[in-house]
Amino acid sequence: MMIKEMTAEHIKAAAEIEKLCFVHPWSEQSVKDEMDKENSIFLMAFDGETPIGYVGLSVVFDEGYMGNLAVLEAYRRKGVGKALMQELLNECVKLDLAFATLEVRASNTPAVKLYESLGFTEVGRRKNYYKEPLEDALLLTKFLKEIN
Ligand SMILES: CC(C)(COP(=O)(O)OP(=O)(O)OC[C@H]1O[C@@H](n2cnc3c(N)ncnc32)[C@H](O)[C@@H]1OP(=O)(O)O)[C@@H](O)C(=O)NCCC(=O)NCCS
Repeated sequence: MMIKEMTAEHIKAAAEIEKLCFVHPWSEQSVKDEMDKENSIFLMAFDGETPIGYVGLSVVFDEGYMGNLAVLEAYRRKGVGKALMQELLNECVKLDLAFATLEVRASNTPAVKLYESLGFTEVGRRKNYYKEPLEDALLLTKFLKEIN
């Protein structure tokens, strides 16, 4: 497995992964729009030449907002998701960010467990944030610096 920074040639693959992993997937255009933002970093995991997962980060001031971590079902539970997140956290540290944060469906145990294993903790909850099915979002954050 190899992780590379995504470029325009990987947008189609990311949209395919979206379709296979999410009920409300981002379109190719949405992936492109997010990638085109100046302060974004997108990473993709490959098995040989085959894209098997991806994750994105958007930086605002010294804050990192992570989104859309997804790994194809056949490749799950092999450490791919964690490796993508760890690599993205390394980028956050390089950029000297204060924290990395994300939202996750309260019932998404695989994702919550993964994030907790990387040191993310629950800092809040958005009531009925997700639709179809209606569900709370947990706000999970990993602080990257000492808070004075
Ligand atoms: C969440 C997701 C990205 C995890 O990817 P993954 O490559 O399977 O995760 P990893 O193999 O790196 O797992 C790392 C750790 O997370 C936890 N974890 C992952 N999947 C789990 C599961 N199904 N049940 C319980 N814990 C799980 C475990 O602690 C695991 O470590 P372990 O395998 O040593 O026990 C994947 O399940 C996925 O794409 N889901 C659909 C999309 C999604 O929900 N994305 C998150 C949106 S916020």
